[in-house]
Amino acid sequence: MVATKTSPIEINVESTSPEKVKTGVLVVGAFADGLLPPSSKKIDDASKGKLSSVIKRGDLEEKPGSTLLLHDLPGVEAERVLVVGLGKRDKFDEKAFRDAVSGAAKALASGPAREAAVTLSADVPRRALAWRARTASRILTDGAYRFNAPGKAAKKERGAHKVTLVVGDKVSEELKNAVRQGQAVAEGMALAKDLGNLPGNVCHPPFLAETARALGKEFGLDVQILEREDMRKLGMGAALSVGQASAQPCKFIVMQYKGGGKSKPIVLVGKGVTFDTGGISLKPGANMDEMKFDMCGAASVFGAMKTVARLKLPINVVALIPAVENMPGGNATRPGDVVTSMSGQTIEILNTDAEGRLALADALTYAERFDPAYVIDVATLTGACVIALGNVTSGLFANDEELAEQLLESGNDTGDRAWRLPMFDEYQDLLKSNFADMSNLGGRPAGSITAACFLKRFADGFKWAHLDIAGTNAVSGDAKGATGRPVPLLTEFLLGHAEGRAWGTTERREKTPAAA
Ligand code: BES
Ligand code: MN
Ligand code: ZN
Repeated sequence: MVATKTSPIEINVESTSPEKVKTGVLVVGAFADGLLPPSSKKIDDASKGKLSSVIKRGDLEEKPGSTLLLHDLPGVEAERVLVVGLGKRDKFDEKAFRDAVSGAAKALASGPAREAAVTLSADVPRRALAWRARTASRILTDGAYRFNAPGKAAKKERGAHKVTLVVGDKVSEELKNAVRQGQAVAEGMALAKDLGNLPGNVCHPPFLAETARALGKEFGLDVQILEREDMRKLGMGAALSVGQASAQPCKFIVMQYKGGGKSKPIVLVGKGVTFDTGGISLKPGANMDEMKFDMCGAASVFGAMKTVARLKLPINVVALIPAVENMPGGNATRPGDVVTSMSGQTIEILNTDAEGRLALADALTYAERFDPAYVIDVATLTGACVIALGNVTSGLFANDEELAEQLLESGNDTGDRAWRLPMFDEYQDLLKSNFADMSNLGGRPAGSITAACFLKRFADGFKWAHLDIAGTNAVSGDAKGATGRPVPLLTEFLLGHAEGRAWGTTERREKTPAAA
């Protein structure tokens, strides 16, 4: 079956005094200059200054997220105390907070304790306790993610599987909800990571279709799978041309989450190229395995749908996934072939490796029928985006200012950040073709922009944004694997719409209450 299980961890929030928490490991923060946030101060007092004296010896590194494990601290009920570096007090910001929680998450996921408690008493400027709880809950859950490869025995469970967030204030519904949201986002990320990490021979278009069906069953989504023949009848000549030489049939996946009554839906489109060989314009062999990640846009849309459904958000969301495999073969698209897209526009395919935009073009046209409030596509679209923004930031393009702002803000709120690039009409000239309405290739300069400008031609009728995640969807090297991005950004955007957020007012929204 398609369901890939990850070790679930349980997160709760409780209002107690940290020194009284009976647990395997208690996590407390410490600033680089030796200053202690309120919870850590309590531990220090309870242990008669033991905590601060150990820190003064300099065993804890300065940078946020460094950790130091202490055993049997006198006056403290927890078996162990994990001290997490917060960096310099006057530099303590959102990133330092996330780094600190990530450091703790890493230590907890590999440590001996099965139960843990985490204090959250260091104030983050401009951010409320609920933000800290939501962020910590997501990062701690995500930190416990492990990929269980198919055919391999499940790894032995270890690390903390029950985590209590310890706060000083009374636990409000808002706070509990923030914790639930963080967990649900991490759950969406886990699905996105699982799908991304699965090899191309397992995670092919029919597998993605089955995954959609299973998700639909579990959460009551409407799921429709358009088969090759359905796609042909709709005139999806661009998307079909990508998958035509694959032994795996193309699938066009439609998932609908209906929580918002009669309101217009937000449509998410995910590039679902389950493997990208480049086709006849074959890619070089080195690192080609990483092209199994070329469906991470689709995976993030799956993940976002799962989060939305888990949280029962009062909005309508439609997911569209053109699932195709880009293969060479006797039946493959040739450079120079001309195809007709569902929109009626013709495309000269000058490079079969610029296939993502072909698959997305028809999905964008299909999106029109939902009379969308917004359409957001997510795609590992261009190597040029990796050159421009590296593995840190996703590329953002939009034909609507407000939508762009909201997505940027959602990125800032979660640390899953994007940066906007232009789509000036001057770039459109680079897509000229002598033989069709446009070419699918804009040349090397501004490669991410010309790709976005290509998509723009199919997104005329609605407010649309495009996220190029070629650099952010996965990491290479020893830690090779999918990141689950941009599920945090997408779900923050959807949460904002679900709660009718006043965008652009972070300062007002997040009044920082007294420290816990
Ligand atoms: N899937 C790739 C883009 C990609 C490259 C994603 C590296 C992640 C890491 C995409 O289909 C592609 O091949 N793009 C080409 C476009 C070019 C032929 C215009 C590229 O970026 O080289
Ligand atoms: Mn390609
Ligand atoms: Zn691709």
